[in-house]
Amino acid sequence: MHRYALFVNKIPVGVLGASGYAGRELCALIAGHPRLSLAFATANEQRGVTIRVAGHPIGFVATEDAPLGDAELVFSALPHGASKDWMARAQAFGARGVDLSADLRPGNGCEGIAYGLTELNRQVIVGANVVANPGCYPTSILLALAPLIKRRLIADGAAIVANCASGVTGAGNSPKRELLFAEVSDDFRAYGVGNTHRHLKEMRATLESWGANADLIFTPHLLPVARGILSTITVPLTEPLDDTLAPWRDAYGTEPFIELSETPVSLRDVLHRNVVRISATLLEGMRTPTLLITSAIDNLVKGAAGQAVQNANLMLGLDEIAGLPA
Ligand SMILES: NC(=O)c1ccc[n+]([C@@H]2O[C@H](COP(=O)([O-])OP(=O)(O)OC[C@H]3O[C@@H](n4cnc5c(N)ncnc54)[C@H](OP(=O)(O)O)[C@@H]3O)[C@@H](O)[C@H]2O)c1
Repeated sequence: MHRYALFVNKIPVGVLGASGYAGRELCALIAGHPRLSLAFATANEQRGVTIRVAGHPIGFVATEDAPLGDAELVFSALPHGASKDWMARAQAFGARGVDLSADLRPGNGCEGIAYGLTELNRQVIVGANVVANPGCYPTSILLALAPLIKRRLIADGAAIVANCASGVTGAGNSPKRELLFAEVSDDFRAYGVGNTHRHLKEMRATLESWGANADLIFTPHLLPVARGILSTITVPLTEPLDDTLAPWRDAYGTEPFIELSETPVSLRDVLHRNVVRISATLLEGMRTPTLLITSAIDNLVKGAAGQAVQNANLMLGLDEIAGLPA
């Protein structure tokens, strides 16, 4: 069994599902983190395999063999359904946990768990034993919408339309025919159409908890790139805005991981960074004042492993930005 927690001044953390895309990103962030060390890394089919991350060899053990008691905090990057029980087991060993799966998120039958939209929930996250890390699409959409809801700028009963395009790492690395290179390349397609994507439950529950009275029409698209999410969101407003970025400037101030842009954002702005980048434009020719927001994240960083480390930093009393690429 590989043991990595040999650094006296470092806090040992474990990664469940370390061989997946989100898990590997976690291992890379932990390897470069000034205060965390990797206590264990698990895999399922890839158990027994050793990979190199940032120059460090990482050996994957079976989840059943993970020394849960060696970690102060356990990240779970297991698939939905498999994660919840392992979070409970880690807690039984006295570890705190950050769950990257949907199992514990709002709208998924586990209300009352701290929701890890860091910029909006810090006070709860700091003292939490378990944090439900948000989904990648919800991160890009909810961080973009929150300032408008806070200022009650969204028209009552409005339909918010979110068209979002994600790179293929969003679907995980287990083989799927529709994700083969020849199927994905030179193409661009919508999926989960008809408001059927599982992230809707999480977003609806969160919007409701914020007091928003609006419908959400969410259509994800598969973009033939490895990583990144670009969300284009149209929002009917109660009144036109003279300064379209003012709600975000007021809400987020000098947040280290939120960037505002005068021009529409692109994936290149955010790849391999723990940021969400947001722009807003008032649409011309509309009878109802309507805002078009673009919001970009790296699905594996701010949309998964980066935000998870940001939450873990808070839970462990570390500098929130420690080890995170800004
Ligand atoms: N990818 C993203 O952009 C993203 C963003 C936000 C949240 N998430 C969430 O993060 C979690 C991981 O996503 P991912 O994209 O990294 O998935 P993935 O690439 O498919 O990785 C899944 C991981 O879980 C392991 N695993 C699979 N079934 C298991 C089982 N029954 N018991 C124990 N281990 C098992 C896999 O091991 P083997 O590979 O060895 O089989 C692998 O390490 C998911 O819940 C996902 O929804 C993903």
